[in-house]
Amino acid sequence: MPPNAPMEKILVASDWKAGLSISSSKTAKNPAEEIHKTGFIGRGSSKNVVYARIGDEEYALGQSQDPALAQSENARMLREELINMYLGEAIRKEFFTTALECEVNVPDFCFNVDGAILGVLEPLEPGHISASLGLPFEYFIATRYLPCSPVDKAIQKFTGNADCGAPPEDALTAAIHAFTHFTVKYTGNTLVFCDLQGLANRKGIMTLIDPQSHSFESDSTKRMYWDGGPNAIEHFLSHHLENCDENYICHKIDMKGLEFDWQPDPVTPVDDRPFDFFANGNNPQDFENPSGRTRSRSVTQSPQRKRVKIDAPPLQTPPRIRTAPFRHGFPTPEPLAG
Ligand SMILES: Nc1ncnc2c1ncn2[C@@H]1O[C@H](COP(=O)(O)OP(=O)(O)OP(=O)(O)O)[C@@H](O)[C@H]1O
Ligand SMILES: [Mg+2]
Ligand SMILES: [Zn+2]
Repeated sequence: MPPNAPMEKILVASDWKAGLSISSSKTAKNPAEEIHKTGFIGRGSSKNVVYARIGDEEYALGQSQDPALAQSENARMLREELINMYLGEAIRKEFFTTALECEVNVPDFCFNVDGAILGVLEPLEPGHISASLGLPFEYFIATRYLPCSPVDKAIQKFTGNADCGAPPEDALTAAIHAFTHFTVKYTGNTLVFCDLQGLANRKGIMTLIDPQSHSFESDSTKRMYWDGGPNAIEHFLSHHLENCDENYICHKIDMKGLEFDWQPDPVTPVDDRPFDFFANGNNPQDFENPSGRTRSRSVTQSPQRKRVKIDAPPLQTPPRIRTAPFRHGFPTPEPLAG
């Protein structure tokens, strides 16, 4: 951790292991209620998530559930998860801007990035009991706690990892499916967001947690476990295209015809923030390049681009330019259908 990284006190529920053992018990009569009495929030396929507080804010603290994993691998996975979520939020904003331009009403949703951090546990003093509380790793991810007690609405799943699943039956699902199509379009076929699921925040807005994505990285050894690479993008997209015409948002935006034109630009140095950028008191919203995948590139494309439609007649007036959230361009892939 950099020497100037801010130190904050994080309180971690000390009985989380009791909840964890209930979650794997076969004899618990009412596991959801019993778990909720403890500080254990839940587990997915990779993380255990524990209740925590920083100041007055409630958090969900996550770490790998595999105690045999190397510290560095846990840190890498959490960092990639957080970057992925910030990237999702940046593209979501572009999606809403595009929807606004096309005058289509999209039900509100967001990613759970507000206040989200990658942190490192340090004992208050050497040997302090709360140094680890049985947490197996130094690095943790902490995202704002979303209401998920037995009386709250259960976590809602909108897409799988491989595809969107069944055609949408409500406007919010249609919006999130359209968003996945938009992520392919906005990134020039280099990324699709998937495994989108979430809970309503205290304002009732659907807040997506722990998204996954498939990238255009063809070397599987360089990809995270959730990333199926170019074939997975193609599979996800072609499955969505079966229902794209019926999706009122894709239809209104003319998603199939939407293209983002990334203008070539003079060579500029890469803004390669250090590993501990997020843990270093910086406002992650200021991180204009949330895409970790293209960091090693030494050249970049212009952050300015225009939105054009394929086969559109010549424009009478110059297209509107918006400031892109990225500083880096994407590799130029083969075009996919749609
Ligand atoms: N911010 C949060 N607020 C409330 N509950 C949360 C939060 N983050 C995670 N959870 C709960 O913890 C569970 C596991 O979290 P998460 O999905 O991040 O773990 P994972 O192992 O990465 O999951 P996956 O298998 O989907 O990749 C979630 O299903 C949810 O019930
Ligand atoms: Mg996950
Ligand atoms: Zn579509």
